[in-house]
Amino acid sequence: MAFKESFLWGGATAANQYEGGFDEGGKGLNAIDVVTNGSATEPRCVTWKKADGTTGKSPISWGGEYLDFPADAEPALVDGFYYPSHTATDFYHHYEEDLKLMAEMGFKCFRLSLNWSRIFPNGDDPEPNQEGLAFYDKVFDLCHQYGMEPLVTLSHYETPLDLMIRFRGWHDRRMIDIFENYARTVFKYYKGKVKYWLTFNEINAMEMCPYMGGGLLDDNAQNRAQGAHNQFVASAKAVRAAHEIDPEMMVGQMLAYQPAYAYTCDPADQVLVLEHDQQMLFYTDVQSGGRYPDYQWKKYEREGIKLDDEPEDYELLKNYTVDFLSFSCYGSGVLTTHETEAKASGNLGMNGVKNPYLETNAWGWATDPQCLRLALNTLWDRYHKPLWIVENGIGWSDQIAEDGKIHDDYRIKYLQANIQSMDDAVNIDGVDLMGYTMWGCIDLVSNGTGEMKKRYGFVYVDRDDRGNGSLKRIPKDSFYWYKKVIENKGSDLSI
Ligand code: BG6
Repeated sequence: MAFKESFLWGGATAANQYEGGFDEGGKGLNAIDVVTNGSATEPRCVTWKKADGTTGKSPISWGGEYLDFPADAEPALVDGFYYPSHTATDFYHHYEEDLKLMAEMGFKCFRLSLNWSRIFPNGDDPEPNQEGLAFYDKVFDLCHQYGMEPLVTLSHYETPLDLMIRFRGWHDRRMIDIFENYARTVFKYYKGKVKYWLTFNEINAMEMCPYMGGGLLDDNAQNRAQGAHNQFVASAKAVRAAHEIDPEMMVGQMLAYQPAYAYTCDPADQVLVLEHDQQMLFYTDVQSGGRYPDYQWKKYEREGIKLDDEPEDYELLKNYTVDFLSFSCYGSGVLTTHETEAKASGNLGMNGVKNPYLETNAWGWATDPQCLRLALNTLWDRYHKPLWIVENGIGWSDQIAEDGKIHDDYRIKYLQANIQSMDDAVNIDGVDLMGYTMWGCIDLVSNGTGEMKKRYGFVYVDRDDRGNGSLKRIPKDSFYWYKKVIENKGSDLSI
């Protein structure tokens, strides 16, 4: 079946993984600029220095473990390390070529994030950096020339480093007003050019990887809870600001949706899944539902967590819920209370068990198209807000064939099944879905591993894990397939 005429087909990126130009145009450093490369087996690390000149690195984990970061250190660039975000795949210098390629595929929408420290180099400077504002202005103008709506994330793991050094992360309440000022500045500046906004990428990263999600250096349960609270309030203030500045603007929340299945029919396994779902949907209950759920208050009570809050916070959360709910979804995980050999890794660090019915890629991520239909139904039934899949895709170590092309039939196969699953949710279940932006539409650096070889794109970029390569762009087979899918509005997914 076809998708509606206004359906926003496109692709998604993030500044820290795509843009590069890390010290150009007056940009300051951000959280990821001091994060090294890693691999499927070696974690990425944040590098640091102490006042006495000692330097070192702390491994970052996706999956709940606390970051071990010295209390007397500051995150910093250290000689001898490779930092993939510095050049990434260089959208900064290739944006004209890249937007042209996206337009050739027929994109209706392009998701990107603003590099907060390109606009405010220290996070909260008295005036924004004009050169930074001008860069995105050129990007948005070109998007409109090609008939593409930008979908802009305000914060995709790009907390300005200077704020992290001064406040040590989002658990400091001062971050709320600093973020509101940043949001107001860009809403005013890009009024009429950007209609769709997201506040925090994968807001539940605050629990899964708080260094990324919240720039948290002093990582513990209390600071994670406070960091999430502060982001909720900041996001509500951004929704209020957007509506004041331009009633046409729509601000969405963004959740990492990680469906979990029970490994056995033991009721204890179902309870485990329920608890997992609560910890994920807590974020949507607040931002889309407008209130803290009772299970979360009980959890905080049990764990002795006390929020530094104001009565006004809860008014803001109630009155300024998001206009739409977006999410990433790559696959599913399996949980059990039972001892089993079949341990799984991957999928944003969910510590679970391998699903015997699903295939995994080289990084252990299980691909599960049905989980899109499940996710869409769960979220639609719970909130009745318009939904948007803003990340989905498969990381693969693509190879250039002898004919100079990239024959990524595995990616086409993945996307066929995933798009069919969202078609089912729309056309069988009646879910209101606004759009679909495939993750990493032009190859970019992997967030989890910092590698280039974990590629998602419709377009190959010649760059390797150590920063070698010409940065040349080569459309893959999936490029031509996706172009056709957009042309026929998803009614024909065949090759
Ligand atoms: C999401 C992030 O978690 O997954 C992206 O929003 C990330 O930034 C994507 O790149 C895929 O993860 P990875 O680790 O394969 O890059």
